[in-house]
Amino acid sequence: MTESPGRSPARWSISRKPFAEGSRALETRAVHPPAPPPQEGRPVAPPLDPSSTYSFSATETFARASLAKTGAGYVYSRWANPTVDAFEAAVADLEGTEAAEAFASGMGAISSIFLALCSSGDRVVATRQLYGNTYSLLQERLPRYGITASFCDHDDHSAIAAALDGAKLLYCETIGNPKVQVADLDRLSTIARDADVPLVVDNTFASPVLCRPVEHGASVVVHSATKFIGGHHDLLGGVVCASPQLLELVATVARDLGPTLAPFNAWLGLRGIATLPLRVERSSASALKVARALQLCEGVDAVYYPALESSPSYPLVGALLQGRGGGTLAFEVRGGRERAGAFQDALRLIL
Ligand SMILES: Cc1ncc(COP(=O)(O)O)c(C=O)c1O
Repeated sequence: MTESPGRSPARWSISRKPFAEGSRALETRAVHPPAPPPQEGRPVAPPLDPSSTYSFSATETFARASLAKTGAGYVYSRWANPTVDAFEAAVADLEGTEAAEAFASGMGAISSIFLALCSSGDRVVATRQLYGNTYSLLQERLPRYGITASFCDHDDHSAIAAALDGAKLLYCETIGNPKVQVADLDRLSTIARDADVPLVVDNTFASPVLCRPVEHGASVVVHSATKFIGGHHDLLGGVVCASPQLLELVATVARDLGPTLAPFNAWLGLRGIATLPLRVERSSASALKVARALQLCEGVDAVYYPALESSPSYPLVGALLQGRGGGTLAFEVRGGRERAGAFQDALRLIL
């Protein structure tokens, strides 16, 4: 009887691959797996490089790179990382600045700016129309370290000019959170220049699609990348855009305190940026429709949205925001907190 080929012992045998690295132990090979063969094709998606640390074949090169921290080869990802660098370059390019520094969150970015540009005994001027944690940072936390803030309404330009006497910087949001008032960046940058201080602008709600504050005289632009730049509810991030000289001060704080962006979040940010113009365009159009519909609602006392003709910010929308109002709006439900809570609890679609 002849043996069927299917039953041949050779069918199931596997030749043992000789170990390329000689007789290294399994534990060693687990840490140093074989490198994949080089490929001709270039990845279309940006590569994700999660490495925290980089190795060098020559001590001299390592020493040089360690001394330079950035620009002479990657050493350690709290200093610089290729995926984070790619994200920073993308945001800087959209904002029209030479450079950017990314952070683990918007608040990481914002607090690093104040710590970089101010010392104990310094005072800053900020508009009152600010995101809550920026306000508490300036009102409660930084004073414990000797940095104080004067607050002025974003449109009280004479008060801002007066308060800037002896101050270190002027801080505002392009579109203030939560009541979406638009700051007149051209006026504010002129006032800041007259006082010889930088204008720092949180451009989170406008995004670089609607507004690029450096075109209106700002010196520093900051984003919570958690919002429009990320755009998918799956990353926390922040980014500061400025000149390389100013940015070096901010980057030093990041290196010392450590609130740097993780490579995976930078990669998600790059993924988000690809659709940023489309999303901002569409969410601005949707927000305007919702704002107009809310204006007609019985039971809504006030609607805040810059692109509504009734908004005090409306005259700035053309010059500053390309005629759009952004994707955020606010409104007041008649009947106070209890009615507003009941309204919110009854929502079926909105988060
Ligand atoms: C205008 C603005 N700036 C800064 C922040 C803080 O950003 P993050 O939550 O990423 O720290 C927020 C968060 O909501 C914000 O709305």
